[in-house]
Amino acid sequence: MNIRTICCIGAGYVGGPTMSVIAQKNPSIKVIVVDVNKARIDAWNNENLSKLPIFEPGLAEVVKEARNRNLFFSTDVDSAIDEAEMIFISVNTPTKTYGAGKGMAADLQYVELCARQISKVSKSDKIVVEKSTLPVKTAEAIKDILANTNTAVNFEVLSNPEFLAEGTAIQDLIDPDRVLIGGDQTEAGLNAIEALVNIYTAWVPEDQIITTNLWSSELSKLTANAFLAQRVSSINALTELCESTGANIEDVAQAIGSDSRIGPKFLKASLGFGGSCFQKDILNLVYICKSLGLNQAADYWEQVVIMNNHQRNRFAHQIVKSLHGTVAAKKIGFLGWAFKKDTNDTRESAAIYIADILIEERAYVQVFDPKVTLLQIRSDLNGLNTRSETENDKFLVNHSDPYETLNGTHAIAVITEWDEFKSYDWQKIYERMQKPAFVFDGRNILDQKKLESIGSVSYTHLRAHETGRNL
Ligand code: NAD
Ligand code: UGA
Repeated sequence: MNIRTICCIGAGYVGGPTMSVIAQKNPSIKVIVVDVNKARIDAWNNENLSKLPIFEPGLAEVVKEARNRNLFFSTDVDSAIDEAEMIFISVNTPTKTYGAGKGMAADLQYVELCARQISKVSKSDKIVVEKSTLPVKTAEAIKDILANTNTAVNFEVLSNPEFLAEGTAIQDLIDPDRVLIGGDQTEAGLNAIEALVNIYTAWVPEDQIITTNLWSSELSKLTANAFLAQRVSSINALTELCESTGANIEDVAQAIGSDSRIGPKFLKASLGFGGSCFQKDILNLVYICKSLGLNQAADYWEQVVIMNNHQRNRFAHQIVKSLHGTVAAKKIGFLGWAFKKDTNDTRESAAIYIADILIEERAYVQVFDPKVTLLQIRSDLNGLNTRSETENDKFLVNHSDPYETLNGTHAIAVITEWDEFKSYDWQKIYERMQKPAFVFDGRNILDQKKLESIGSVSYTHLRAHETGRNL
């Protein structure tokens, strides 16, 4: 079966870039990305490509090539569903904030709404593709809704989880390690799998496309994220040990990672992982394990999140401790707010929790991030509901210029590993800081020797050293 029209429900960090690349590589297929968020769709349609709702290196070029050729962004969900033979569900699946499984299980209400809408609108057979990250067995619920609410058409459900990382989304999509497609092992299911394989083979070598049954595909996505996050927590768990013993975490990471069985990636010590998915997906995995009575497996995975919370808390508390036990009325400069470099996404960024602890200690937090707006920073902090919005505003300062932001600060915390921070004029920054000047490098990106040679900067980071203070 050759697909002529694709609809993708959800124009977010996954739906937008993924469909842009599918459209770029398949000019004969019409791709319509729909969303209920009009502002988001308007931004995707903005003539000015620097105003796209998502910042991703290389994304603007792909959108420029395909938009209004065979790539369209719209709020008309029903028409797009009606027109398409294949519909991707790429909506958000956040952690539940209510009812059973609150704080752990994935909230599937948006996915279910999509299934019901597809069922209501469809007049011809459809292949429905789960692109969102979903708990294992979700396809069963989707099939159940589709089969029982519209018997006039045939629906095939596939699982095609997305493995892109933000900041490198376009590169990851164009040159993926693998594409995973799960489907029913029936004749109709295998035909649907083949239709999706044909879309990817426009640019992905066939031997990199893995096809499985639905449940293996759903579970592989959740557990791949758990494995990645586990590596970050494992290396972060060693930072404290390094600091207490004089070992250097980067040397240790290199020694561990050069074992070909382990590999060097995802061993970068940090102030804790952030992002919309790692914590959400692990908590979901923990919930699934607990629901099945697999308590040891649940405890094992939960520890990855517990370690992550510990790492970002201790970073904040070390700032307080180093600044003579009080940060009240002191100015702390934040370099970065995004959860990693090369993205404007701030969901679950360690910055939010670290700022919250420092503001609770009555510090003024002055933030500069090259891609994050003050509006977003405010909304992130207010989202924690720790104090009133007015009070948060009083303690939160943001400038569009990094030197302005860091002016008069008692300490600087490097939160995000943006490359540009490395090439700042640190002599100039030092001269404008309060003395003694402290720099807390939560990403180990700055040149320690250079900083310590400037005036009396007390440079603190995640690796142990002789002259500075350690976290
Ligand atoms: P997102 O919040 O950026 O985007 C989701 C979009 O879906 C929103 O714009 C929302 O308005 C829209 N939406 C929700 N319900 C809708 C409905 N009924 N009709 C139309 N639009 C609707 O989320 P995201 O980061 O793109 O993540 C989407 C899914 O992909 C999640 O399950 C996530 O776990 C998974 N995922 C995310 C990433 C990532 O890097 N962000 C990577 C891989 C997988
Ligand atoms: C992650 C996975 O890498 C993707 O494969 C997956 O598709 C995606 O989650 C998802 O399902 O949402 P992402 O969260 O965008 O991608 O970014 P990562 O590069 O994985 O970084 C996550 C967090 O871990 C960031 O805060 C990053 O700074 C931190 N990290 C990562 C470290 O602290 N050290 C490392 O060595 C690597």
